[in-house]
Amino acid sequence: MAKSKSKSIYFCKECGYESTKWLGQCPACKAWDSFVEEKINLSVGGSKINTDLSDNKPLKLSEVEFENEERIPTGISELDRVLGNGIVRGSLVLVGGDPGIGKSTLLLQMCCNLVNTQKKVLYVSGEESVKQIKMRANRIPVDSHELLVLGETDLDVVVSHISKINPEVVVIDSIQTMLSKNEGQSPGSVSQIRAATGVLMKLAKTLSIAIFIVGHVTKEGVVAGPRVLEHMVDTVLYFESDMGVSYRFLRAVKNRFGSTNEIGVFDMSEKGLMEVLNPSEYMLKGRPAEEPGSVVACSIEGTRPILVEIQALIARTSFNYPRRTSAGIDFNRMNLLIAVMEKRAHLDLSDSDAYINVAGGMRIHEPAMDLGVIMALMSSYKNKPIDEDVICFGEVGLVGEVRAVTMADSRVMEAAKLGFKKCYLPKVNKESLSIDKKNLNGMELIGITSIKELFKAI
Ligand code: TYD
Ligand code: MG
Repeated sequence: MAKSKSKSIYFCKECGYESTKWLGQCPACKAWDSFVEEKINLSVGGSKINTDLSDNKPLKLSEVEFENEERIPTGISELDRVLGNGIVRGSLVLVGGDPGIGKSTLLLQMCCNLVNTQKKVLYVSGEESVKQIKMRANRIPVDSHELLVLGETDLDVVVSHISKINPEVVVIDSIQTMLSKNEGQSPGSVSQIRAATGVLMKLAKTLSIAIFIVGHVTKEGVVAGPRVLEHMVDTVLYFESDMGVSYRFLRAVKNRFGSTNEIGVFDMSEKGLMEVLNPSEYMLKGRPAEEPGSVVACSIEGTRPILVEIQALIARTSFNYPRRTSAGIDFNRMNLLIAVMEKRAHLDLSDSDAYINVAGGMRIHEPAMDLGVIMALMSSYKNKPIDEDVICFGEVGLVGEVRAVTMADSRVMEAAKLGFKKCYLPKVNKESLSIDKKNLNGMELIGITSIKELFKAI
């Protein structure tokens, strides 16, 4: 007979790395002081090979029945976009984000929309009572009478309700609160959230139910974050924003049924989350006119071009070492670009502080922003504003060359649509554009090959 024995294992609560002893720094994600001890049950003996085969057997691919998977629209087009055109039946979706960012609000809005299209939907909350869920639902201007809600933290009870009700979509808010009584784990531990996710995954696949699980990103304490679940689920969405702004960005970092790196943009209002269907206009709202250090650049998020304002400030330093700070752009990339400017355009920034900011709280990890960063820095250095109707994009290499970027056509089209009159872009991109001249709305295209050439041009 199988005997049960327990053993201590140490988990990194940031990324789920496992170790038999405590470590000060995680070898996988490099987080400090992130290891927590957990007792896990080991079954000893009874590991006989099972020769009783179940009904499940290998099939030829040609024997697999498959109808073109119909997706369920959520009624929120920004969410559909990130999911890859709607919800896939039988999928497990993880929605992660800081506490208070709006995960529950987004999913509740989705549920309300779904019940309005005659779908059976269950919203399970281990954090709020059903009264609190109702209070939240009352703030959202969508009718939600038919939505089934359940306030419960016992996973076994939740599973039995799901099997009985057989809804099409289930939301579990949050995975850290779902506890299985039999397992003897503590809530929020790595082994608990993994076990609960495993149970829900099996349920989603066998009953063909789409399940959304909420995972809080935690900075301290012993509660494990959603990163430890990323490999187990079909789709991982992160909801993020900068402190103090009302924009929210929903990003797909993994998607078995769609492209990743798509983003959805929302605005948190009094009446829940509002979709921002034209993020470029939104990002550029309130942009200062004719101020040095500001330029608009065109980035691509997934398949969609988004225009953002890049701001730079160069000021005399009052420290021994000049300060460099960046928000929204990779810090090392900014330092690299400053070094390129010093070497290739002979600027002296050794006694100046330099700050870079992407207005609106967006974070962009795209080399096509290089040209924008350089233009903004140059404009601040020379204290000369760049014309309001100028836009740019392009990657800058270490010898100061301006290199081609992907999806130049969409970037140029977006700029022309929003009325920009001058676009600086890599020369190679300009030569290979396939856009009708009349679609440019009179925008002039200036192809450049190096940053020296750029400085001469502006
Ligand atoms: P919530 O969805 O509870 O966040 P999470 O589930 O990610 O922890 O969002 C909570 C925040 O959103 C809270 O600060 C209040 C705000 N909020 C609004 O501004 N408007 C609204 O209509 C709602 C429902 C919430
Ligand atoms: Mg919540």
